Amino acid sequence: MVNFGFGTAATYAADVLPDPVPAHPLLDGKQELGRGQYSIVLDKGDGERVYKIVSSPADYWLHTAKDRPQGKHFPVVYVDHGDIGQAQSGYRFYLLEMERLYPLTPESQAAIVANQLTKAYWEGCRRWNQLGACMGRMAMYHLTTGETPSWDEQMQSALKALSAFIEEYQLLPDILKADNLMVRKDGTLVFSDPVFVS
Ligand SMILES: Nc1ncnc2c1ncn2[C@@H]1O[C@H](COP(=O)(O)OP(=O)(O)O)[C@@H](O)[C@H]1O
Ligand SMILES: [Mg+2]
Repeated sequence: MVNFGFGTAATYAADVLPDPVPAHPLLDGKQELGRGQYSIVLDKGDGERVYKIVSSPADYWLHTAKDRPQGKHFPVVYVDHGDIGQAQSGYRFYLLEMERLYPLTPESQAAIVANQLTKAYWEGCRRWNQLGACMGRMAMYHLTTGETPSWDEQMQSALKALSAFIEEYQLLPDILKADNLMVRKDGTLVFSDPVFVS
């Protein structure tokens, strides 16, 4: 099991990761494309791939576990470059080389489906809000039951795979934030950052 320095990270709660990009030969001079609470994304410069520096165990598992959800709606990870240092949060930084993704274009087919997903997920959260920490997992499961809009077959199986992964690793889903859903160049909706640890 990879050591993320659990315990020291529990109190960390900034909106955006404050750390400088860790020193690493692959990252030297690369342009930063995005940054969230746990990750920094840099352009590899080849138009196809990015370097994603993750500090959340949830993200590392999602991108590297043998039983991670894969297929049309999940990001392709090419290389796990391993541990590259310590984040201020106490978690370890891991460097992944993965496919470049893009923000949703408003009104696109992917954006319409993303809106349906977040709306149905939110309805599930409201329905199970008395469950506390389990609310998000139930809301995620709710998306797979057929009560929500009828997703196409591949989206249906992506949702089932994501829900099973969340249960298996005891994670929480995070598909409400628009920037956690992205698209490939060809417009395919991708769950780029759908999980976090509580
Ligand atoms: N594969 C990618 N290609 C390009 N940009 C990305 C990619 N993944 C994430 N990003 C950008 O980086 C930001 C942070 O990534 P995200 O996975 O949401 O990290 P966090 O776990 O910190 O929320 C996103 O908001 C998005 O703009
Ligand atoms: Mg995010």
